[in-house]
Amino acid sequence: MITKQKGTYDIYGDLAKKRAYVDEILATLCEKYNYGYIETPVFEASELFHRSVGEATDMVQKETYDFKDRGERNITLRPEGTAGVVRWFLENKLYGNLTDPVKVFYNMKMYRYERPQNGRNREFTQWGFECFGSDDVMSDAEVISLAYNAYRLLGLDDVTIKINSLGDTESRTAYREALLEYFKPHIDSLCEDCKERIHKNPLRILDCKVDGHLDIMKNAPKTIDYLNDQSKKRFERLQELLDLMDIKYALDTKLVRGLDYYNHIVFEVVLNDSYALGGGGRYNGLVETLGGPSVPGVGFAMGYDRTLLALEENGVTIPINDSIDVYLLYVSESEKETASYLTQELRLNGFITETDILGKSLKGQFKSVDRYNAKYLIVLNDEKLVNNEIVIKDNKTKEEETIKLNDLIDYLDMHM
Ligand code: HAM
Repeated sequence: MITKQKGTYDIYGDLAKKRAYVDEILATLCEKYNYGYIETPVFEASELFHRSVGEATDMVQKETYDFKDRGERNITLRPEGTAGVVRWFLENKLYGNLTDPVKVFYNMKMYRYERPQNGRNREFTQWGFECFGSDDVMSDAEVISLAYNAYRLLGLDDVTIKINSLGDTESRTAYREALLEYFKPHIDSLCEDCKERIHKNPLRILDCKVDGHLDIMKNAPKTIDYLNDQSKKRFERLQELLDLMDIKYALDTKLVRGLDYYNHIVFEVVLNDSYALGGGGRYNGLVETLGGPSVPGVGFAMGYDRTLLALEENGVTIPINDSIDVYLLYVSESEKETASYLTQELRLNGFITETDILGKSLKGQFKSVDRYNAKYLIVLNDEKLVNNEIVIKDNKTKEEETIKLNDLIDYLDMHM
């Protein structure tokens, strides 16, 4: 038997219904913030992700699905959404007429070759959004507020936003130097990957999965101490705005995020101190890194699958419809014909409708009525149909009414 790949799962039944419900909440919220929907291709040139996410990151070193296509092109399955959206922004030259910010959101599958465990998959979904064109701290606050409100609307009221600032280029360079100096004497005690990271990007040592627990990590220099005045002021201003917006946040001076493109604000959403339910930040240099002009950007991505798990673990129930509106039962060939056009009419008028398509006995059809949890059932009957009448029964109260066939839609509209 061919089974599904490790770290992937099928989406069907109740899970599919739950996701549809969550999708709608998130999409409606994005509309309120005036973000438009975007979907980028699942595969892109490897260079796009390698250059933007950063060659020294775990993601590029160990997790991307890289392969050559039949035309010998280097291809990567999208491990995250930001790079593809920046590619779209550049390819369509949207930087040319930036009178207003460009704001988009996505709900896309991502692919990372990670060790699968609870909340960590190889194929997973991110709901994310990106905002281009504003370097104002108001746009940082807007993005954080959108992320925060999404979790709250879904029912996760207790999430906290962990925030930190990596500062501007000058601050980041100073911090990088400090890290280099700090880690140099400890180099022999670090893992092989970190020995490479110290030269490529010492920041990456801080989120090493092997050495992360060591004391030298805990005592490492903190970003906040290397922010220049401007970056510090900016970070303070953001916190004032978050206070005004009543957003629950906590400073985490160790937060550096696992991708290279960030500067200034970085943030993660956590609940009960477990893994991140989402993360984001500002990436002012990324458009330039990918060959465009200097355009500021900021964004966020929710770990959709993890968020769904968190809802379940925290007892938040997602309302799912496990009933149908109408079941039509029939016996004779002419009743069957009536069933076929009536189901069509009912469905087109918005009612979830079922009828037998297996050739079941009337008894079997009644069993289906119960299994489908139908709100109403109609047992079609030739004798009634001659007079254009049907008997409709409320499956809960068991009350029956004879009505004109032509009045069926109005009847259901009134009663449901
Ligand atoms: P990220 O932190 O790599 O950021 O991913 C965002 C979220 O995706 C994580 O916080 C986590 O909840 C979820 N996630 C990551 N890996 C997995 C996995 N293997 N299985 C399940 N969930 C996972 C980014 O991807 C950035 N592009 C976010 C961003 C948008 N920054 C600015 N704009």
